[in-house]
Amino acid sequence: MSERPENVLVTERIRLRRLNPADAPLLHELDSDPEVMRHISKSVPTPFEKILSEVLPRMLSWDRESPPQGFWPAHLLAGGEFIGWFHLRPEKISAGEMELGYRLKREYWGRGLATEGTRALIAAAFRDWGYPKLSARTLVGNHASRRVMEKAGLRFEGHFYWSQEALPGWTEEERQGVKYGLSAGEYQQVSGEVTVV
Ligand SMILES: CC(C)(COP(=O)(O)OP(=O)(O)OC[C@H]1O[C@@H](n2cnc3c(N)ncnc32)[C@H](O)[C@@H]1OP(=O)(O)O)[C@@H](O)C(=O)NCCC(=O)NCCS
Repeated sequence: MSERPENVLVTERIRLRRLNPADAPLLHELDSDPEVMRHISKSVPTPFEKILSEVLPRMLSWDRESPPQGFWPAHLLAGGEFIGWFHLRPEKISAGEMELGYRLKREYWGRGLATEGTRALIAAAFRDWGYPKLSARTLVGNHASRRVMEKAGLRFEGHFYWSQEALPGWTEEERQGVKYGLSAGEYQQVSGEVTVV
């Protein structure tokens, strides 16, 4: 499958490219680690059949070329190993916002790679793609994810609770989440890079 170069992002250490249907084994590899899935499914790995029938089709359903949105698998520039994915998709609850997300293989945690990929998506989303507001949500206890949001420049906006439908079998306390956000105007103030009309 040919790649769409305008949707490839290259940082100092990683390369983000668009998701394609052949990525199912990579997604399965990532979702097979209970530690990776701790704050997503209470550590339950995703079966390959579910990746094929539900997860990948849903991820591909967000795929848009202009302005770009969807999922970006990431690979190390040195060596080419798959490290995980990033996403930029419409926020379900707050209309007009785009939601950032990330999931990395455990062996690549703690090296600043999630922050590096997120910063690249933020820069492209504001500078090149014209999105007005980005946000991110995570569970209150997902400290690594919260830290990535903070390091990438997002600001804490408040607490909320995920619905029982979103997290079936979780208690209300376990469903408490936090939301962070960043507008193009705020980004411009800190980066001085973006022109918003
Ligand atoms: C969240 C995740 C993407 C972070 O990836 P990463 O590449 O390790 O992130 P970074 O290295 O850029 O930054 C992580 C930060 O969190 C900090 N951190 C990690 N675990 C932490 C913890 N338990 N408590 C507090 N801070 C923690 C790190 O020290 C680092 O901050 P620092 O640079 O100030 O020291 C990765 O842990 C992951 O894939 N987790 C599983 C999937 C997931 O939960 N995704 C998010 C769902 S919303």
